[in-house]
Order: sequence, then C-alpha cells, then structure tokens
Amino acid sequence: MGMGRIGVGLRRWVASVGCVAVLLLCGARGQAEGPVPETEAMRARVDGIIAKMTLEEKIDYIGGTGFAVRAVPRLGLPAFEMSDGPFGTRSNAGFPSTTYAAGIGLAATWNRELAEKVGAGIGRDARARGVHYMLGPGVNIYRSPRNGRNFEYFGEDPFLSAAMTTGYITGMQREGVSATVKHFMGNNSEFLRHDSDSVIDERTLREIYLQPFEAAVRRAHVGAIMDSYNLTNGLHMTQNGYFNTEVARKEWGFNGVMMSDWDATYDGVAAANGALDLEMPRGRYMNQKSLLPAVKSGQVSEATIDEKVRRILLTAARFGWLDRDQRDSTISAYDAKNEAVALQSARESMVLLKNEGGVLPLDKARTKSVLVVGPDAYPGVPVGGGSAGVRPFHTVSLLEGLGAQMGSSGAVYYERGVPTLMQLVRETEFTTEPSGGQPGVKLEVFGNRDFSGAPLASTIVRSIDGMAFNEESLSASPALAELRRNQRADGSGRIIADVARRWTGYYVVPAAGRYLMALQGGGEGSPSRAFVDDKLVMDDWTLVRAIQPHVTMELTAGPHKIVVEDTQRSLAGGRTKLGIVAEEKVVSAKVKEMAAKADAVIVSVGYDSDSESEGGDRTFELPFGQAELIGAMAAANKKTIVAVTSGGNVASAEWIDKVPAYIEAWYGGQEGGKALAEVLFGEVNPSGKLPATFEAKAEDNPTFANYYPQGDSIKVDYKEGIFVGYRGYEHNHVKPLYPFGYGLSYTTFKFSKLAVAADGAKATVSFDVTNTGKRAGAEVAEVYVSDDHAKVTRPAKELRGFEKVTLAPGETKHVSVALDDRAFAYYDVDAKTWKIEPGRFGILVGDSSEAPELKGSVDISPAAASAGAF
Ligand code: BGC
Repeated sequence: MGMGRIGVGLRRWVASVGCVAVLLLCGARGQAEGPVPETEAMRARVDGIIAKMTLEEKIDYIGGTGFAVRAVPRLGLPAFEMSDGPFGTRSNAGFPSTTYAAGIGLAATWNRELAEKVGAGIGRDARARGVHYMLGPGVNIYRSPRNGRNFEYFGEDPFLSAAMTTGYITGMQREGVSATVKHFMGNNSEFLRHDSDSVIDERTLREIYLQPFEAAVRRAHVGAIMDSYNLTNGLHMTQNGYFNTEVARKEWGFNGVMMSDWDATYDGVAAANGALDLEMPRGRYMNQKSLLPAVKSGQVSEATIDEKVRRILLTAARFGWLDRDQRDSTISAYDAKNEAVALQSARESMVLLKNEGGVLPLDKARTKSVLVVGPDAYPGVPVGGGSAGVRPFHTVSLLEGLGAQMGSSGAVYYERGVPTLMQLVRETEFTTEPSGGQPGVKLEVFGNRDFSGAPLASTIVRSIDGMAFNEESLSASPALAELRRNQRADGSGRIIADVARRWTGYYVVPAAGRYLMALQGGGEGSPSRAFVDDKLVMDDWTLVRAIQPHVTMELTAGPHKIVVEDTQRSLAGGRTKLGIVAEEKVVSAKVKEMAAKADAVIVSVGYDSDSESEGGDRTFELPFGQAELIGAMAAANKKTIVAVTSGGNVASAEWIDKVPAYIEAWYGGQEGGKALAEVLFGEVNPSGKLPATFEAKAEDNPTFANYYPQGDSIKVDYKEGIFVGYRGYEHNHVKPLYPFGYGLSYTTFKFSKLAVAADGAKATVSFDVTNTGKRAGAEVAEVYVSDDHAKVTRPAKELRGFEKVTLAPGETKHVSVALDDRAFAYYDVDAKTWKIEPGRFGILVGDSSEAPELKGSVDISPAAASAGAF
C-alpha cells in the first residue's frame, strides 16, 4: 500500500510538471496531458483573444450549443465538447462506451486508487471521442434512500465522498479531460428539482454538503463545476453569489468554469452577476437580448462578461486544448484495457450483507442447479436512468455471469418470475362502465394542464398506456391536430404543447382480495396520479415522489372505478401507464415450481432506468411484485439468495428474516453480472462496505420527517443538520439494519495494536490488520474520531480516515492512517472558521461505524489547536 501511495504521488507530480524530465512514465503519448497551472503567458494569450471579440461574440460565447462550448472559427477557437457522465462517456449520438460501476458502487469499494483508475479510464475513453469536459462526478450527499440519483453519487459520508471524488477527478484530468463536479449544491433529491429550496444551516453546509466539492477544487483542482437546478437558502444556484463567488472562487480558489446544469438558469442578469460562466445547453437567459441592455445600463459590467470568457479560455489553455486535437488517435474507440477496470469496479463494489450459515459462497461440487429469477437477472442492468444512462458495448447479465461460472459443472435456469410493467399494462382489462360498457378505458385529452373546458379529444383505448395516445387520438381528433399545428416545436423537433390526459375505466375484481396496482410516471415535467373509487392512491402530481410507484389494496369483488391523470409538455406520448394484478398472481406459478427443484435460487431484484432515475425519486419499497417474489422463492427453497440492484437501501423488513443471504449489488456497470456471479461462487471474495446506512424501516432515516416540503412551500428544511446518515442514527439512538461501513467477507479479520501519535493538530493512527480466516480477502480499516468535549454538539463519531488492505490467509499488515487537522475540527459558525477545541479525542478503528474494534485516544494540545486546514 505504501508503494501504491508513492506511485500515485509520483504520477500526480508527473501530471503537473509535464513529461520532459520523466518521459518513461508518460506512456505512449509521450506527454502528460493533465492540466498545468495558469501562467502569465496563458493569461496574455487569452486576453489577446478576448480583445479581438466583440461584446456580442463574448455574450454568445457564454451560452453553450447542446453539449459544447461553441467554436469561434474566426478566432481559431474549436468547440469544446462535453459528455455525460459520470460512469462512461455517454454520447448523444448513442455511441456506446465502457460502463463502470456507478458512483454509489464505486464508493462501496472504499478504494481511492480504483476511483482514480476509473476516472482515468473514462478520461481515455473521452479522449478517444474528442471530449473535453466530462459531466461528472456527481457528489451530492445521500440523505435518504428515496433520492432518484443516489446511484450516481458517493454515499452519505463527506469524508468518503471527498476521497472518491478526489481520486476520480485526479485520474480523469491526468488524461487531459476536465471533470465537471456536480451538482453544486443542495441537490439531494429529485422531486421539484427546479423549484425546491434547500434550507441548510452554515455548519451543516461546511461539515457535510460542501466537503466533496471543496475536495474537488482544493485537492483535485477540478476544471469545472456544474451549478444545480435547485435553490439553496433562497437563491437558485446559478445565481447564488455566496456559493459561486464567495465560497468556490474566493475561499477555495476555484479558477475553472462554472457551468449551469441543463436548463438550470432562470435569470440572465442574476446569473451573470452570480458568477455563472457558461449557460448550458444554450444561452436561453444569458444571451444578447438580456445582457446587451444590461451591459449598456451598467447592471452587468463588460468586465464580468470578459471574466467568464477568460475562465473558459484559460481552462482550455491549462488543459492544452488550444494547442492539440482532443481526439487522441492513439486510443481505441473501445479501449480493451478499460474492461478490466470496469470489472474491478464491479467486483469490489459488491457488499455482502447477510450470510447465515455460510450459505455463500456456493459450492460448485454441491450446487448442480441454480435458478436465477427477477427483473434484474436478465438483461443486465448496468446503470440507472437519466443522463447517467451510459450505453455499454455489452452488458454481462447475472444470468450470463452465472452460466459462465457454472460452465459444465451444473445448470442455470432462468425465469423472470414477475411480469414486466408493460405486460401488466397489456394484461389489465377495463370496461368503460361499471356494467354493460365496452372493453377499454375512456381517454380524454385537454389542451391545457388543468383539465379545464371540454376535452379536445375523447376516445376509447384498450389500456392505460401513454404511448398509445398519439396515433389513436391525434388522427381521430381534428381539435388535437389543430393543437399540434399551433404548437411550437423545440430544437429536438418535439411538438411542445400543454396537454392533460385522463383515463377513466372500471376494473372488475373477480374475487375480493389484495390487488397490486403499479403506475409508471413520466417524472419531471409530466406529473401523474391515480384514483381508485375516487380516492387518490398514488400522487406524483406536485412532487414526483416515485417515478414508478405502486400500492397494494384490499378490493371487494365487482367493478372499481380507476382514474389516471397526467400532464405533458409535448404531444410525444409520454410514459404514463398503469396495470393491476391480484397479489397472489403476481409471481408466476412456474417459477415457484422451478424454485422447489433447484439447489439454490438467486433472486435478482431492484430497480432499472425506468424506476430509478433523475427527474423524480423512487420508492423505498422494491418495485411491484418483487417483495412477493422473494417471499415465494424463500418459501420454496431454503437456499434463497437475494441480490439487489439499487442506488441505496430498500425496504427489506418483509423478507430479510426469511432468506439466508443478501447482497447489495448497486449498478455494476457492464461487468456487473459477471462480478456478482464470481462473488456468489467465491471466485471473488466480497470486500465492499456500505457507503450509506441501511435503515430497518423508512421512518428510521434521520430525514424522514422533513424530506419533503411542508404544504405548498418549496422549502426543504434540512432539519437534521449535521446528523445525516450514521451521524443521525447514532445521535437519535436508532439502530440501523446494517450500519455505514458494514460489509461481510468470506474470511475474517482482526484489528490489533492500536497506536496514535499526535503531530501538532494532526495525528497518525497505526494498527495491525490480520486475516484470521482461510481465504485471501480485503478489509477496509475505518478510522473514526470522536469529540465529547467541544462546546457544540458533535456526532458520536465521524469517519476521518480509511485504508483498504488485501491480505492472504494468516497474513498481518501494519497500517498507518494519517489524520489531517480537519479530522478534529468542526466549523465554528460565529468565527467563520474551522476550529479544534484542545483536549482528548477518541480514536476508533474497525470494520464499520458500529462498535469499532479498537479504541484509543489522542491529546491535541492548545498550541496546535488553531488549525483546521484542508
Ligand atoms: C443532469 C446533469 C447532466 C445534464 C446533461 C441534466 O439533466 O442533471 O447531471 O449532466 O442533464 O445531460
């Protein structure tokens, strides 16, 4: 490990000094292409370019064009291309790329070097595609499992998140590609993401939410920051001078490009003065129309506009983009080297949460048949939805991974076990009247978003399926055709219109009992809701609480009125759909039969790009039918192993005691199924640790009561303050199901010989880690600091260091973890600085946040206690 660190340090140094002196380390390109510090010469060059630009040209320049900073051929400026992000290069043209384990999985590896390798791999893929800016990493803190984008982020702890952020950006930028750390900041949920106002107190901001961004700027020297959609403490981030100017630029010294999230700018003048450099994806607000008069009237100075252009061009100069072609022809479009990195990221991300009776790893000699079931078993689900939906060249599903593992030693059977939502929708039969109507539902389409006036069209359709809307109703309705003619088309050619739709039908329940109803909503911009017998049962109208919600209801026999409503901003159809099934029928009879006969059953459940995605949150409960599937499999086969694909915790209370083994697999990228199969059969010993606490029930989460705004307010009050994640569970004395930092291995480890040495306001913590079992494996040594003497209330403990240690059976390694002076500090709001209160600090070392094995202490003396530097 020591050598690893030296290696990393040396590489960083090479990246920053260039390759002249150390040619050998620079690989095939013969030249380090990471960013270099700004120089006088660069400044002079850039100012020379700015001097040649007209004010109009400069204003145009700070509005993007799709996924690029525009080219200015007259001045020889190329376009600077961008790509999502964050776990592969996501081309808008749909060209695939290597897809790595998504953020939360990468955080679960607790492997900084791996984060750096992933960053570098993506950087190389970006270079092969001529991309200058990668739109990642996403580093927003995990407050609640409901956030639809947790899968992109690095979990609940700011120290772990900062470490992964630093590694990822360092690796990427070394390849000459700017990372874009996002979403700055307070963007910790996806409902109402354009309008919600995150109300966060200063200490919480500093100690929790700003940390990964601060690391990105100060440690990794990130080239770009993306301002998020939401407001924080009353102002939209794209016009929030406090965060953009005071904190990022002045305090942290950020000298890169501050760009907006896509359509996250709401006021051109305010954004211009609020330190936004680049409006994406186009200058909808920061444009000539708003800024020319503003410059003329003195509301915005021309120097302010110049500074934005300067930031963009200086970043380009520092990364060498003004002097080289960003497309690196020495790198293959499919860089096979990266496949190994993608596989490693998936392998190390898997967290083994439960393994009763050592049911895992499966023994090939005794396991002759494995049944794999569930929606995530096949095809593979490499990543969640939204802009992070990278398209891999290939994906190894769990079914394929298991098949490859078993080889000729046994057979792998597959059955999905539960219907797809589309199947459910098609199989759900409605009638237009409680009795005597015709088959189907009535669809009414309104030319507004509030169902006012008479519908433009009314028709009978077979199912509640938004996609069926266009063809059937447009052609039938002259009023709709008229609406279509009158509406604007946006750049994509989509017809933009205000449309509200209502489906009304009757579902005839054959026999009283429990029924599952599942809804697919359209997420942001397309709210939906469902009523049963005029009672609202699923409500994603003002807050998209879950993109794919479901409910279980007791229904009496006979007809029940079902109404689904949605609104659309376009005449493109939309995703809204709804299906109903009797609870006892949701799991197929066939799969139950098969389960009873197999030697083991692997249930691969969780979410996918339709149910966990940006633009809306997700359910805490697994998607419809999945808990029932686990229950049915566990009833049929004692060796039922559950693997969950998700961006965070899920409700498990219903089934956790019925199954002997449980693995959190996150979104494993293209190699996810292979890695999971290797873990199941013991070819890989799991070493992942939870980057977020897994609560026993939803209400236990420290944000549960204040996750949503109250009433009509847009304010999301972060009332839990610094007590987010394990800090909150410990503070509230709530025992989680699985604590932060937890994860099992197929071997056992022991920590011993703790020694702590203070060095001013810093300390070194050293100890031994021994593999006491019979298999090689890796353990994460987690170092927590506690402070019970400070004047302010502090968390019971906070992660301040960690080291991943790989050990052969019986092997012991001595580990040293350096704690910087931020390790002992809290943010003093009155003094506006980090503060260490001298005295004795507890040092706790172990393999999770709960009950660390080693306990020691360190005295930080008054002389040393004024620091707190990062
Ligand atoms: C997302 C960003 C993404 C951008 C471009 C936005 O909707 O919030 O994370 O980078 O789109 O695709």
